[in-house]
Amino acid sequence: MDYLIRQAASLLANARRLVILTGAGMSKESGIPTFREAQDGLWATYDPQQLATMQGFRANPKLVWDWYRYRLQLIEQAHPHPGHLAVAELEQRIRGVVVITQNVDGLHESAGSHDVLELHGSIRRFKCLRGHNGLTMDDLTGQTESPPRCPRADCDALVRPDVVWFGEQLDSTVIQRAFLESEACDVMLIIGTSGVVHPAASLPYQAWNRRARIIEVNPQRSELTDLAHIFLQGTAGQVLPNVLAAMDGELIDR
Ligand code: APR
Repeated sequence: MDYLIRQAASLLANARRLVILTGAGMSKESGIPTFREAQDGLWATYDPQQLATMQGFRANPKLVWDWYRYRLQLIEQAHPHPGHLAVAELEQRIRGVVVITQNVDGLHESAGSHDVLELHGSIRRFKCLRGHNGLTMDDLTGQTESPPRCPRADCDALVRPDVVWFGEQLDSTVIQRAFLESEACDVMLIIGTSGVVHPAASLPYQAWNRRARIIEVNPQRSELTDLAHIFLQGTAGQVLPNVLAAMDGELIDR
């Protein structure tokens, strides 16, 4: 494993443009559940059709709103872990770094990453069904209804989290830039995604087709592991600080 970590460190140290693609596993050590893990993934207990689709929201807006409030509370109590900090630290060492995340928790920004593309939106932001975007929790204070109503003048439409549900389009500016970055990078570091949800899961193929080197960090093999030139089997919080230490030449042979 130390040999693989040193190889990864060397690839990263020589990278000109690095894309870091993250999924729910990135935040697991901050106490935020993943989606598809057999025992404790959210979709093992909850029905994504009910909770993460527009049809589900129209059928039972209160259920969906209350579930997102519960998840937001979990996320608001969470802090970035050493893996998030290591990702942010890579910006100091490599000139062109962009984080492309499927996570809606904002923990990369909290850890200090500056260029973060949130493919699936943000659980801390809201929009109404008539298209008023960019609402914050502050805009909704004082409302007791679940879900609240749009506070914009003459609107009153239902408010929902500004996340991408199944069957919805990603923000076109965000996904276009994600594809461009993936085509332009020479190294892609993939952390904590099962690689089954597209278009996010297509990005590593773009990078691979353009001959980027692919490094994956995950305790389990994923749909993307066969693409990886280096597979670092372990958790983000354990592996990523070791990779940084190896970049500093501090990893000691065991
Ligand atoms: N460190 C790194 N990876 C981990 C860790 C960890 N500590 N713990 C688990 N993992 C890995 C799992 O092995 C799995 O491969 O994280 C991955 C989580 O996979 P999913 O639960 O499928 O999450 P993700 O790939 O982000 O899902 C994509 O699906 O439901 C939607 O919108 C949701 O953005 C989400 C999308």
